[in-house]
Amino acid sequence: MTTTHEPTSPEIGGIGHSLRRKEDDRFIQGAGNYLDDIRLPGMLHMSILRSPVAHARITKIDASEAEAMDGVVAVVTGEMLAGYNLAWMPTLSGDTQAVLATDKVRYQGQEVAAVIATDPYIAKDATSLIIVDYDELEAITTPQQSLQTDTLIRDEKDGQTDNVAYTWESGDKAATDAAFAAAAKVVSLDTHYPRSHPAPLETCGAVADVNPATGQATIYLTSQAPHAHRTLFALVAGLPEENIRIISPDIGGGFGNKVPIYPGYVVATAASLVIGKPVKWVESRSENLISTGFARDYYMHGELALDDNNRITGMRASILSDQGAFFADAQPSKFRAGLFHICTGSYDFPNAHVEAKGAFTNKAPGGVAYRCSFRVTEASYIIERLVDVAAAELGVDPTEFRSLNFIKKEQFPYLSPTGFVYDSGDYHAAMDLAKQMIDYDGWRAKQAAGREEGRLIGIGVASFTEVVGAGPSRDYDIVGLKMFDSAELRVHPTGKAILKLGVKSQGQGHETTFAQIVAQELGIPATDIKVVEGDTDNTPYGLGTYASRSTPVAGAATAVISRQLRDKAREIAAHLLEANPDDLDWEPGKFFVRGSPESSVTIQDIAFAAYTNHPEGMQAGLEGVHYYDPPNMTYPFGTYIVVVEVDPGDYTWKVHDMVAVDDCGVRINPMIVEGQIHGGLTEGFAKANMQWITFDEGGNCIGSNFLDYLVPTAYETPNFRLGETVTPSPHHPIGAKGVGESATVGSPAAFVNAVVDAVSHFGVTNLDMPVLPHRLWGAINGVEAKP
Ligand code: CDP
Repeated sequence: MTTTHEPTSPEIGGIGHSLRRKEDDRFIQGAGNYLDDIRLPGMLHMSILRSPVAHARITKIDASEAEAMDGVVAVVTGEMLAGYNLAWMPTLSGDTQAVLATDKVRYQGQEVAAVIATDPYIAKDATSLIIVDYDELEAITTPQQSLQTDTLIRDEKDGQTDNVAYTWESGDKAATDAAFAAAAKVVSLDTHYPRSHPAPLETCGAVADVNPATGQATIYLTSQAPHAHRTLFALVAGLPEENIRIISPDIGGGFGNKVPIYPGYVVATAASLVIGKPVKWVESRSENLISTGFARDYYMHGELALDDNNRITGMRASILSDQGAFFADAQPSKFRAGLFHICTGSYDFPNAHVEAKGAFTNKAPGGVAYRCSFRVTEASYIIERLVDVAAAELGVDPTEFRSLNFIKKEQFPYLSPTGFVYDSGDYHAAMDLAKQMIDYDGWRAKQAAGREEGRLIGIGVASFTEVVGAGPSRDYDIVGLKMFDSAELRVHPTGKAILKLGVKSQGQGHETTFAQIVAQELGIPATDIKVVEGDTDNTPYGLGTYASRSTPVAGAATAVISRQLRDKAREIAAHLLEANPDDLDWEPGKFFVRGSPESSVTIQDIAFAAYTNHPEGMQAGLEGVHYYDPPNMTYPFGTYIVVVEVDPGDYTWKVHDMVAVDDCGVRINPMIVEGQIHGGLTEGFAKANMQWITFDEGGNCIGSNFLDYLVPTAYETPNFRLGETVTPSPHHPIGAKGVGESATVGSPAAFVNAVVDAVSHFGVTNLDMPVLPHRLWGAINGVEAKP
């Protein structure tokens, strides 16, 4: 596979040009088409009644008053859905989830009933007229409590005798135990990666339009994976798949929140099917924050074995995840704890063993891959915190400890002890550049001088390795659907083109970057290429956009189909130039006869000929589709260094400087890549500094709105300085690796390492996120801080 590319002119705008985002023209004019913009004739509105309590048996639901309200068309309950076998649905992790509760409610905010009305406000008001009697049960709010109590959360599940959602392990336990037995030193860390919410600006929603005459179900959905959702709708609702069309319009941020199938989608579709009119459901902000896919919530214990030369010889990790009431993650079925077993990170050592257990609790389902490749964020966090703990205990500089233990450039492809084959990397180069950009030694000197004056300056490092771009399909699937992706490319007679993809942008700029790949390969200006996603009737099958998989998989499919069309274009060019195809040379945009550059035809001439003057025996047209099954994942990496200062007066902390050196292989659009990194760093900062969803003892969610769950604004967000190295992926057709999530994955550890470093002389070795003032004060003063 070739990963080199000839630069194109700015007019063509191929790989490497910072083209302005095509899609922004409509967004900045307020002309995007989001789910709530969709209005269909005769459309009804749905509002969901949610449980106010975390755990209770439902003894009675009386909807008569609501049904009698003017404008109310129907009230849907779980009992009614049970009549259609729809009261429960399968989750993407092979569990089941209540659509509308019939027996019990299992978390605050769980769906209990739905009102369909002529107006959204009537629907909402009518929910308050539904009387539900709850017989309250013990609320289980932590996985530790869940594993100890006799109260069974999932008492409806055949064979479920405890609150364990899954157990899983990876690596060689015996070899790892032996490495620990022989270790000169062992360091350990217990930490909690807190429950977070992706909190996209646009909440989730659906407009279901089932035509009673034809049986056609057109479902507009805030979906990151429209094709997979279509198949699952067909399987769950028993609708014929050819009659289901999922349209995922413009999406105002997904971040993993729009991967699961939510009960609201199913109820709206069932209601439209029964009533015969379109039904719209759009969540409120609080509904989104309380009841849809949470992320993280990992209690992690990690240990490193070290030899006399400060080399790591082994790693053990055991994790306990809080899954909420249903196991509704979207993990590949082989990997119950996602890709947490990438937790050996950027380091070269032979032995590792990971044990994972998930527990059901009375919280909304968790475990979505919030801007991360399944569980890689938690993995990156534990190893990057652990190496800092090791360096501190050994009394060596954390950058030197990392460099000593890094996988070396010449070791790639590198087989990790838990079975990943890292494709390429140069970790030392990223580290060296980051240190130089931030003036690492200068800051260490300032830190030492500052300490003399009582200033609390800290320097934190994280050298992450990510794993993105699922498939290959031999290892990766979602509920049995193999993870590949697709691209369909049509070049029209006038030389303009349309590219249709199975992935779905939620703001990442696919309409621009995927056009740039075609521009690079065919020489058609990127501005002449329309990119279409998110309509299952009009795009080839794909598994969708999450886990930074679009560029590694659909991007590769786009390059391959473009190259296949270029091969056909060569034949047509030879016909037009009356030359042998092998005697033609290509430069972006035209073929010419070798040695006679004046004898040339442009790609536009060729496109016209494909429909008007193609060689005899050749099929007309210039179009094709390619399904790409990647041979491996891609492994982006980077080093982030951050300098913070803790205020000894109020225990807040501020960022003085931050440098992020990322390597995502070949960058298609450097400006878009930088935007992705800025966004990810902001989210990482939010996690480390301010963002927290907690629950009280009764299971009430504290963090149900943006006053409690803080989203950083430009005011709080620090300035970030970016650097890059480029180590192409050897197996990707254009050498690109994914990048959308790198900064969310890599940065939290850098921030926490920095704050711990600032106060380490008080004996502080760990701080859990978010590092809030009361926690810092507690750690310094040896007082356990309550939430
Ligand atoms: O799957 P998702 O789009 O979330 O993530 P991605 O594949 O990492 O891409 C995020 C955005 O960055 C897309 O517009 C990509 O095409 C762009 N990108 C790029 O320009 N160069 C790369 N090497 C990787 C991504």
